[in-house]
Amino acid sequence: MATITEEKRSSEHGQWSSHFTFILAASAAAVGLGNIWKFPYLTGQNGGGLFVLIYLACVLVMGIPLMMAEITLGRCGRRNPAGTFKEIAKDNNVRTTWKWVGGLGIIAGALILSYYCVIAGWSVAYFIKAICGEFSHTNAARSESLFNELMASPWQLLLWHTVIVITTVFVIARGLEKGIERAVKYLFPSLIILLLVLIGYGITTGYFTEAFVFLFDPDFTEINTETVLIAMGQAFFSLSIANGSILMYGAYVPRNVSVTTAAIAISLTDTGIALAAGLAIFPIVFANGLSPGAGPGLIFESLPIAFGNMPFGYSLGCLFFMMLVFAAFTSTISLLEPSVAWLVETFRFKRLKATCLMGLIIWLVGLLTVLSFNKWSNIKLFGLNCFELIDYVTANIMLPVGAMLIAIFTGWIICRKFIRHELQIEDRWLFRSWRFAIRYITPILIIIVFLYAL
Ligand code: PHE
Repeated sequence: MATITEEKRSSEHGQWSSHFTFILAASAAAVGLGNIWKFPYLTGQNGGGLFVLIYLACVLVMGIPLMMAEITLGRCGRRNPAGTFKEIAKDNNVRTTWKWVGGLGIIAGALILSYYCVIAGWSVAYFIKAICGEFSHTNAARSESLFNELMASPWQLLLWHTVIVITTVFVIARGLEKGIERAVKYLFPSLIILLLVLIGYGITTGYFTEAFVFLFDPDFTEINTETVLIAMGQAFFSLSIANGSILMYGAYVPRNVSVTTAAIAISLTDTGIALAAGLAIFPIVFANGLSPGAGPGLIFESLPIAFGNMPFGYSLGCLFFMMLVFAAFTSTISLLEPSVAWLVETFRFKRLKATCLMGLIIWLVGLLTVLSFNKWSNIKLFGLNCFELIDYVTANIMLPVGAMLIAIFTGWIICRKFIRHELQIEDRWLFRSWRFAIRYITPILIIIVFLYAL
């Protein structure tokens, strides 16, 4: 049996100071625009309850087992994602071409980051609007025109996109994660409190029940494979699965951490925040006659109405958008790290050089997204503009394919004793259920969804 001793590979990286810091940092990487921006608008576009139900099922039967697999692989390989797959393949005497699974994740992560920075930039723009008091007494029409004005201005979008890329590069190059770790301790509780305040405001609009029913009452006649594919992609996107970042964070996990508890805690936090965001946003959407299917602008068009009309709305609006920027920022950092680690470990680049190079590439690719909302909004491939295409290909194709390959690798390729030893699950029943989910449920479901969708 091939066993990796901790001494063999712990030298290159530091470690999280405790179980709790790891859970906090990984949750911070998972919680971001995916929960607060993307989940509500996808739910709105895909009809509500049924989408939410499929999303929850994907988190439960595929997301948690995959996250356990990724943390374990990362902790065992202790390298960038491609390097980790290569090392573990070697230890198990299988082909090192499996490193391409890590490579696929790195590319998906970089592509996601290119548009993620642009959307994070919208949040900065909205934070500034909040400070300038632009939301005061806003109604639906004014809020929509605020958003459209921003989208129509490539220069503004470019400015904020650039700010986010530079700040992310700066943090990754300087390794300031420690400070961020500390800030996250305050971010989470405050984000949750603010979402609860917004839910409270939602109740006063009189449309809370409607929103609740919209989110939790599935209409099974609406089912189609596109919805299933999008819900599955969103589950992977939101949990940060299959793009190398959880795997990369796993590389810093001490051996005494329980992978099972960590994976469950991270997934529950992430899912809870997404649902809370939905409950906060839809009452405002319905109360103001906005369309739930408005698309990527949904939270930016609905929340200013709430902040503009509720007591203490000015301060709460500033706080909310500040936290949204921060939540996005903890995710941009986790998205950049795998590709930088890959350049450093594979080509022996200096960390600064690797970070700047990746930052430049991501900034350039991000221009496609910046222009998708204005000058190039008519340039379409398969009916999708550049932003929609990058988003669709990464979330609905690359992440599920990556997830399937990770499941096959951990479930079928590497030796059972090896993974059992690394996972450190004492309970036989628990290990068997995990292995069943990874060997059968995950790959088979993904293949079925793909076959139908194509
Ligand atoms: N999960 C993050 C979010 O919900 C986005 C993300 C995707 C982060 C992939 C890392 C990797 O916003």
